[in-house]
Amino acid sequence: MVKIEAFAVEQVLDCPQWMDKYETIAKYNTAETCCASLSVDDLRELSEDKDSNPLARLQSAKLTYGAIRGSDELRGTLANLYSVKTPTPLPKDNILITAGAIQANFMLLYTLVGPGDHVICHYPTYQQLYSVPTSLGAEVSLWKTDASNGWQLDLKELEKLIRPNTKLIIINNPQNPTGAIVPHSTLEELVDLAREKSITLFADEVYRPLFHNITPMDKEFPPSLLSLGYERTVVTGSVSKAYSLAGLRVGWIASRDPSIIEACASARDYTTISVGQIDDAVASYALAPTCIHNLLRRNIDLARKNLALLETFIESHRWACEWVKPRAGTTAFVRFTKMGKPVDDVAFCEMLLDRTGVMFVPGSACFGGGEEFPGYVRIGYVPETEVLEQGLEALKAFMEDGYEDVPVKKKKT
Ligand SMILES: Cc1ncc(COP(=O)(O)O)c(C=O)c1O
Repeated sequence: MVKIEAFAVEQVLDCPQWMDKYETIAKYNTAETCCASLSVDDLRELSEDKDSNPLARLQSAKLTYGAIRGSDELRGTLANLYSVKTPTPLPKDNILITAGAIQANFMLLYTLVGPGDHVICHYPTYQQLYSVPTSLGAEVSLWKTDASNGWQLDLKELEKLIRPNTKLIIINNPQNPTGAIVPHSTLEELVDLAREKSITLFADEVYRPLFHNITPMDKEFPPSLLSLGYERTVVTGSVSKAYSLAGLRVGWIASRDPSIIEACASARDYTTISVGQIDDAVASYALAPTCIHNLLRRNIDLARKNLALLETFIESHRWACEWVKPRAGTTAFVRFTKMGKPVDDVAFCEMLLDRTGVMFVPGSACFGGGEEFPGYVRIGYVPETEVLEQGLEALKAFMEDGYEDVPVKKKKT
C-alpha cells in the first residue's frame, strides 16, 4: 500500500492518466505507442499458416490456469529469438511470461530493488522505470540524454553517477519517447563497465525489434542486451508495440541469470498466477516463424511510410518545430516553439485536441515532471496511415489559424 501510494505521489500528470482521459474522445489518436493494432483474423492473413486458428484450438480446451510460467511453445519461441547470433542459446526456462512489459518491469524492480540500493535510469523514458524504484525505497539517479547530442547516452556521465551501492542500471532501447537507439558500441561499453563493477543491467526492450531507420547491416545496429554475454543482464519485452497486440497483455522477462527468473517467479506467485491461455496461444501464433516475419515486415513498412509523412510535416514547419528523427520504435519527441520560445505543451495539446481531435502527449507533463522538456510533444506515428495523414492535415490547418493562440511556457518563479 505504502509503495503504491508513494508511486502515485510522484506523478504530476502522467501518461497513463493523460491517455485514459483523452484516448476515447480523440478523433485522430496519434498519441498511441503501439503499431496499428491487429485482430486474430488479420494475424491469420499475415501468417503462412492460415489454416490453423489459435482460437479454434482452444475452443474445446479446459480453461485451467494453463502453464504457470508461460507455455513451452511461447517460451521456446522467445528463447529461439534471443538465441539468434549468440554463441550460447538461451534456455526457455530463462524466460517468464507476464501480463505485458508493464508487469514484467514492475515484477523485476520489485524483486531486485529495495531501500539502501542505488539505481541509475536512462532519461527521459517511461516513468515506471524510475518511479517504481523510488517508490520501493531506492535512490535513483537519472542518466540524462538530450536532443543536442541526438539523445545519446554518455558513458563518462555514467561513470560519475555510479556509487558503491549501485545495484541496477536501467536503459530503454529503443527509447520512448525519443525513438533514439542505444547503439551497439555503447551497449558493449556499458556491459564492460557493469561487469567490472558487478552491477546488474536491465534493458526495457519493449520497442524491439521495430528498427526502421537503421539496417541490421549497420555496425551500430543494436542487438538485444541479452546477446552481449554478460550474465547479470535482464531484459523485458512484449507483443504490444512492435507486434501490434497490446490487447493480449503478453510480455516477458528474460535473463541469462536463472536466479533472477526464479526470484521474479516467486514474487509473481503473489500477484499473477499465470497469463491467460488464450493470450498465450495467440502470442505463440504471432511470434512463430510462420507469422513473425510478415508481421514485422508490415509494421516496419508502416513505420517507415508514416515517419516519412511526419518528416514532411516537420520540414515544412521548421519555423515552429524541431526534432531528432527517430531511428526505431513508434514515437517521436518534437519540440514546438514560438519566436524561439517553447510553447506551453499542455495547453497546446489540449487546444489541438479540443479544436481538431488530434491527440498528442505533452512532454513536460508526462516526461519531465512539469519542468523539463518544455514545448515537447510525443507523437505516436504508427497508427493506420490514414489516421496519421488526416491528423497531420488537421494539425496543418491548426498551425495556420490556431497556433497563434497557443501560449508560450511560463518560467516557474
Ligand atoms: C518503455 C515502455 N515499457 C513498457 C511499456 C508497457 O507496455 P505493455 O505492458 O503494453 O507491454 C510501455 C508502454 O507504453 C513502454 O513505453
